[in-house]
Amino acid sequence: MSRFEKIFGTIPSVEAAAPGRVNLIGEHTDYNGGFVLPMPIPRTCRVQLRIRGDDRVRVSSANQGGDMREYRLGSEKPLGDWLDYIQGCTALLSRQGQSLTGFDAFIASDVPLGGGLSSSAALDVALLRALRAAFRLPLSDLDLARLGQRIENEFVGARVGIMDPLVASLGRPGFALFVDTRELTWRQIPIPEQAEFVILDSGVRHRHSAGDYNTRRSECEQACRDLGVSQLRELGREDLSRIESLPDPLRRRARHVVTENDRVLQAVSALEAGDLHRLGRLFDESHASQRDDYEVSVPEIETLIALAHDEPGVIGRRLTGGGFGGSIVLLTIAGRGQELGQRIAEAYSRRAKGVSLPARTQITPLVVGRSA
Ligand code: GLA
Repeated sequence: MSRFEKIFGTIPSVEAAAPGRVNLIGEHTDYNGGFVLPMPIPRTCRVQLRIRGDDRVRVSSANQGGDMREYRLGSEKPLGDWLDYIQGCTALLSRQGQSLTGFDAFIASDVPLGGGLSSSAALDVALLRALRAAFRLPLSDLDLARLGQRIENEFVGARVGIMDPLVASLGRPGFALFVDTRELTWRQIPIPEQAEFVILDSGVRHRHSAGDYNTRRSECEQACRDLGVSQLRELGREDLSRIESLPDPLRRRARHVVTENDRVLQAVSALEAGDLHRLGRLFDESHASQRDDYEVSVPEIETLIALAHDEPGVIGRRLTGGGFGGSIVLLTIAGRGQELGQRIAEAYSRRAKGVSLPARTQITPLVVGRSA
């Protein structure tokens, strides 16, 4: 008997899934109208669902102890926990005029929660896909991504950009999704056969609604007001001298966004040319900019980055995702990722004995490439 049957006493009628992601480059650019280059990872959130005849929504998550939570459609209000993703989803769909009834849903995800790999967008998109199928909702994949962002912005209280739900909805395994977030256009970029990316989770947990992320976003908005532009995307490297006149830290925040946008464009051409060394240099520059200008790194991430510098086979390394914890991504030659990642993970765990590192330091490298 499946867990769904055990909990709800019936079988699901719909199943849907959506992946987590690793962002290769283009960090904190999406809410500035800039460029991003994420790719899906082979870790997914799965949702099983069955429509009910009344207005009750009953949900259970394997990742939250499996207890059943319940509410009535129309009575959604943020509670500050995981149920907000589900409530946000039904509240926004109803507000858009989509007709829903109640449903029973079971969620199980192997995207590490809070690991900088977009576990929440995977949940948003998986649930929206399940509801689209169950209620035959006339929604495109782009609509799902937009709704996913609104759930976070309007219900969860995290002022995130569109990158994560977009790649959860439109990403293809083995391809990076190059997105222009201002124009909302995208292109699938094949990962070169000779490249491999390794993801290592620091074990330090972030929560975007907790404040730091929203603070960064407000700083960018203030920089825009001071510079008289509506989005930092409007500025390029030729504007860096103007940016220098801003007070600190706005100067460094804006400098990160402007230089990072440029690095994404260069990374796309490096990927297309199969130039891994150029891509690796861009990873390293991006990391330095996140650490020094955007200030989203933490000591444990720096420990991982330093360990990755000690490995000659690593071509580039950077913090991926929103930061304040989470994961790093390394670039290496195809076939070497597992072994390199394992060595760095072991060194990180050993380091944990001497320094104050989080409890969960047994990290498993996750390798993604063309065939992942
Ligand atoms: C989080 C957000 C994204 C993006 C990244 C930083 O993952 O969900 O929208 O802003 O941080 O690049």
